[in-house]
Amino acid sequence: MSSDLADIGLIGLAVMGQNLILNMNDKGFKVVAYNRTTSKVDAFLANEAKGTNVVGAHSIKELVSKLKTPRKVVLLVQAGAAVDSFIDQLSAVMEKGDIIIDGGNSHYPDSIRRTAELEAKGLLFVGSGVSGGEEGARYGPSMMPGGSAAAWPEIKEIFQKTAAQVPGPNGDEPCCDWVGGTGSGHYVKMVHNGIEYGDMQLIAEAYDILQVRGLDLSPSEIADIFIKWNTGVLDSFLIQITSEILKYNDDDGVPMVQKILDKAGQKGTGKWTAINALDLGTPVTLIGEAVFARCLSAIKDERTRASKVLPGPEKVPFTGDKQQFIDDLEQALYASKIISYAQGYMLMREAAKEYKWELNNAGIAAMWRGGCIIKSVFLGDITKAFQKTPDLENLLFDDFFKAAIAKAQPGWRRVVAQATISGTPIPCTGAALSFFDGYRSETVPANLLQAQRDYFGAHTFKVLPGKENARLKAGEDIHVNWTGRGGNISASTYNA
Ligand code: ATR
Repeated sequence: MSSDLADIGLIGLAVMGQNLILNMNDKGFKVVAYNRTTSKVDAFLANEAKGTNVVGAHSIKELVSKLKTPRKVVLLVQAGAAVDSFIDQLSAVMEKGDIIIDGGNSHYPDSIRRTAELEAKGLLFVGSGVSGGEEGARYGPSMMPGGSAAAWPEIKEIFQKTAAQVPGPNGDEPCCDWVGGTGSGHYVKMVHNGIEYGDMQLIAEAYDILQVRGLDLSPSEIADIFIKWNTGVLDSFLIQITSEILKYNDDDGVPMVQKILDKAGQKGTGKWTAINALDLGTPVTLIGEAVFARCLSAIKDERTRASKVLPGPEKVPFTGDKQQFIDDLEQALYASKIISYAQGYMLMREAAKEYKWELNNAGIAAMWRGGCIIKSVFLGDITKAFQKTPDLENLLFDDFFKAAIAKAQPGWRRVVAQATISGTPIPCTGAALSFFDGYRSETVPANLLQAQRDYFGAHTFKVLPGKENARLKAGEDIHVNWTGRGGNISASTYNA
């Protein structure tokens, strides 16, 4: 075999593709670059990749001919038709055992379909979440590969060396590990993005509580609080960049954040997570609220009209202990974040059952510790929890997080109460606390819901253990003639 052959090929010379190639080159791998518009290959070799070991190809056939076997090609192209088109072209010239890796933003059902199609042809397919944007791609992203398990030993070294590294007890640890079966890489990336929506919204709520409706602090004063928080339990990339954003002034000295239109955009991965949570019947309330908060932000004109006619509470200046309240807010944010990650893991657990994946739970948190937007010290604690108990039923059952929530609880409740009284919306912080209170309740008022359903629709109910009698038999679907007017016929059972 000629040593001139390259280690890996990459298709798609947009921002992510170019930076990932340069990153792989820096780590000592020889990369072949290809792009549909081949003039971009020449431009890349003449500019960004000048002086590197990167080589170009002007056709798929040329690209494949320049690779060591088993051939490995990463796609970093627009999700959808472009991915299928390149898969078709590659599979026509690749041989058994060759590997196609989709590193783009594909939706996981597409990755499930593509794995099956390629495995039927004797090829291997990996769908890999790649997070961290331009800088992550260039200097080390978080990479979440899943799919044909036989591909992992072949790509492991390239992927783990290219990924972000975080310090561990035995030296640097890569933010990349095998996630699990077909579609799980892109699934976990989707949940990562949903969690990112939640983290961002929680921070935005804390900022809102600290500004005019709450403590009436300036962006710069709020930035100082975030700088301090970034040395404690909230130490994370998003807290750090928020403090930098809040310190940034326009040329006239006015904080830039105060000049930005309050309408949030979204590309859809948070929505996908929330839809999937509804489909799987898993209460991922915080991500759902984060998506809806962006939707509410988007109807700015309607909110403006509403603000003129719908009164809130009288503004009462905060008279309590400000430092105590700021400390409470730090705990509220921390506790809400724990709930969000617990919910994210509940969803992944349900998905693992649904799609028959053996998910690498500790590895998933470990992969998110560096290189990506949600990177944080906190993810190291989640990794430890799943290392200790790989089949942990819920993050909230882990001793570390149980203690953290117990400690945070009084301040968390004070913050939710204060925000409610002052009329500050806290969709995620509030949803997190309500979830916590529901989750820790043996009894919830769903008995009444069942009674209502049986009353109006004869949907039947089951008797509470211990309350059985001649009329209310254990295990039976019971219908009561609540009014004396209805019949005794129950509706056929269905699950909504
Ligand atoms: P970004 O948002 O960073 O620009 P993107 O839109 O996700 O990235 O992906 C752009 C890449 O997908 C480019 O390599 C583009 O190829 P061209 O440079 O030829 O436009 C590629 N791409 C998009 N649609 C494609 C298609 N239908 N077939 C092949 N490649 C396609």
